Amino acid sequence: PNNTDLVIVGAGLFGLTVAQQAVEHAGARVHIIDVRDHIGGNAYSYFDDETGIEIHKYGAHLFHTSNRRVWEYVNRFTEFTDYVHRVYTTHNGEVFPLPINLGTINQFFHASYTPAEAKRLIEEQAGEYADITPKNLDEQGKKLIGKPLYEAFIKNYTGKQWQTDPAELPASIIRRLPMRYNYNNRYFKDTWEGLPKDGYTAWFEKMIADPRIEVSLGVDFFDESQPLNRKAIQAAGIPVVYTGPIDRYFDYDLGELKWRTVDFKERRYDEDDHFGCPVMNYADADVPYTRAIEFRNFNPERAESYKPGKTVVWEEYSRFARRGDEPYYPINTEDDKNIYAQYQAKAALEPNTVFGGRLGTYKYYDMHQVIDTALTAYDEQVAPLLRK
Ligand code: FAD
Ligand code: NA
Repeated sequence: PNNTDLVIVGAGLFGLTVAQQAVEHAGARVHIIDVRDHIGGNAYSYFDDETGIEIHKYGAHLFHTSNRRVWEYVNRFTEFTDYVHRVYTTHNGEVFPLPINLGTINQFFHASYTPAEAKRLIEEQAGEYADITPKNLDEQGKKLIGKPLYEAFIKNYTGKQWQTDPAELPASIIRRLPMRYNYNNRYFKDTWEGLPKDGYTAWFEKMIADPRIEVSLGVDFFDESQPLNRKAIQAAGIPVVYTGPIDRYFDYDLGELKWRTVDFKERRYDEDDHFGCPVMNYADADVPYTRAIEFRNFNPERAESYKPGKTVVWEEYSRFARRGDEPYYPINTEDDKNIYAQYQAKAALEPNTVFGGRLGTYKYYDMHQVIDTALTAYDEQVAPLLRK
């Protein structure tokens, strides 16, 4: 450790961004450790041997942002394709476009409503619940968009995400259900979107190409039998950026923060194209998974490099995470928020240590948000530690 100026726990986008900044701005010698056998954290992807298809190991990752600083930053390390994200859903044996838009509404009601007519209809259907104070998600959904659309497109999908009957879920899970009264089914509203031209991992490798950044994989910060463990690093007085779970850092002293996880089931089809799109949601309860991802359709520009007549699909099954599962989506009950606030107060007192990223701050962040918070954390919290 004595030739290291900064140790970063976690080679996800938060850790990689801080490492890159520390070298660029402070000429620091950085050592990144990760317990996994690859860099990139949850945004990691690999190219499938059999088919040449890029597979996002921890679920589909689409890059999108309206933040100019982040867009300019990421473009230093990769070009982006012109991919535009669109999602479809299967309900009752029919395929509809999402998010719910005029195309969805007209197909569902077998109608040719104009924007104004559709708006009037939905207001009328939602209006039936105007006097109700929603006690659960079911009532909230009906009050927001009326019973027919809520029950077709939201109810069972959300029930599968939470593995809970929507009548038992708190109304607060969904605050808004925006409707589009036009035919725009572009999923994200951000200024920029796309996928890294040569894949996610090529992008991440470029961020840490500088020889002053060293990476050790398969290394757990809490494993005292390896040299870069917490005790050894703290004893040596080396600053730490910690992007692992904050409750784990404090030995779960104040309780465990709760997460949802997703299990993936892979299917291979002897076809060039199974869905005709990258993401097919399943709105109904009879299909046990929430959605299926067909990875080759994220990168149609690579058609030449794919093995013909083969495609890879991952079905997603959502459930509550237990310790040892991959934590994906913070559940964030009032209880969780309280516990997190207490851990956060402890973290603020931890000398020479900066907590960041989605696990270190118990927040759902998209990639662009993680990069933005990492750039800021470098300037405000990490740079001062390196100057000492
Ligand atoms: P992570 O990527 O989780 O990295 C943290 C790293 O720390 C991990 O590699 C972990 O192994 C390591 N670590 C933890 N504990 C230890 C330890 N004790 N010792 C050593 N290493 C440790 N964002 C988008 O912008 N678009 C999307 O479409 C999108 N889709 C998503 C889909 C899913 C299913 C999920 C879960 C997330 C998605 N995201 C998406 C969010 C994106 O994954 C995150 O914003 C990003 O990965 C967060 O980076 P991070 O560095 O904070 O955390
Ligand atoms: Na390097």
